Amino acid sequence: MIKVICVCGARPNFMKIAPLMRAFQASGRIHTTLVHTGQHYDERMSRLFFRDLGIPRPDVDLEVGSGSHAAQTAEVMKRFEPLCLREKPDWVVVVGDVNSTLACALVAVKLGIRVAHVEAGLRSFDRTMPEEINRLVTDAVSDLLLVTEPSGVENLRAEGMEASRIHLVGNVMIDTLLSNRRRAEESRILEDLRLAAGAYYLVTLHRPSNVDSRETLAPIMDALIHLARERCVVFPVHPRTRKNLESFGYAEQIDRLANFRLIEPQGYLDFLKLTAHAFAVLTDSGGVQEETTLLGVPCLTLRRNTERPITLTEGTNRLVEPTREGILAACSQIRDRNNSPPRMPHLWDGQAAERICTVLLDASRLVSA
Ligand code: UD1
Ligand code: UDP
Repeated sequence: MIKVICVCGARPNFMKIAPLMRAFQASGRIHTTLVHTGQHYDERMSRLFFRDLGIPRPDVDLEVGSGSHAAQTAEVMKRFEPLCLREKPDWVVVVGDVNSTLACALVAVKLGIRVAHVEAGLRSFDRTMPEEINRLVTDAVSDLLLVTEPSGVENLRAEGMEASRIHLVGNVMIDTLLSNRRRAEESRILEDLRLAAGAYYLVTLHRPSNVDSRETLAPIMDALIHLARERCVVFPVHPRTRKNLESFGYAEQIDRLANFRLIEPQGYLDFLKLTAHAFAVLTDSGGVQEETTLLGVPCLTLRRNTERPITLTEGTNRLVEPTREGILAACSQIRDRNNSPPRMPHLWDGQAAERICTVLLDASRLVSA
């Protein structure tokens, strides 16, 4: 048996950790300890996903909560270190690019514990994004770099990483999508929100570069309010964004619009159903760009760059300048959602977690041999 600590902390981590936990346990050769850092803690940003996705209850909750980048990262590190000293795992597995990912990778490598990074190699080449710093540093200290798309392999090679550390394994977020698609169809969310399939825009926004200042959020909101004249706009609001919408005075204005539904963050199955039946999705999320590609739903990413270029070249994604004119022009060009057939990039086939399990076991054998 090898001992592995699996780390999760923020919403997009839960979809990635779910298939890994299942594959590790099914192997019968990996003893897992699941650690939740507590970076996200609201019921609708955390616990709901454990229920929806059947993730085992975390063995440890570090309960770090919110804070500045330095405070949050440091707090995860301080609380994760004694756990690693006590558990002495062979591996720490981290996913994605959030502060918890970086913090736990740093703690592990300094204790001589090997680190596997799931979703390695993605680069937006925009160092103003906190996630880009997290990706660069996590990859630099990880022993196994488990990559979702070919651009990731190229980026890691260009940074001089040894080929033996890099493995193109596919996309665990897509494992979760494929294994929950049928269950998501049973969701009653369209009826609950009185939505007709194919007839609404679905919106998610949480990047600081879009939502943290009035200057950047106002033109986006103006565009969305304009779009709501034409068809319904459904906007499950991330807590960071809700705070700003309230403080910039948008929440009340939107409440008066019949065709604009500002709703709580949704559980995985309800959100997947909403995505699958949207006319188009407007987002700045990383994961949603990938999910819309698989579902064949037009995705307008309100950013100037993406770390997931395969969703542009092989998928339904399109980068859109986050301005009023940019958004309205891009929406007016979507004529028919059937122009976006579902696409399955190489290895986005539902088997990524199994491949990761094999790579991890092989790497463990090499070390002990
Ligand atoms: C984090 C990740 C981001 C990821 C996003 C997914 C970092 C640097 N950012 O951004 O990469 O795309 O999660 O959703 O790790 N809050 C609550 N309740 C919660 C969690 C947060 O109210 O359960 C509020 C707090 O006011 C907090 C703010 O949201 O200060 C931001 O939370 P934080 O985890 O720092 O960053 P996110 O914007 O969620
Ligand atoms: N998601 C969800 N409910 C929501 C919004 C998003 O379940 O209300 C899911 C979405 O389907 C994807 C993941 O959350 O699986 C993406 O997380 P997020 O956008 O918070 O983070 P990012 O991917 O940008 O890091």
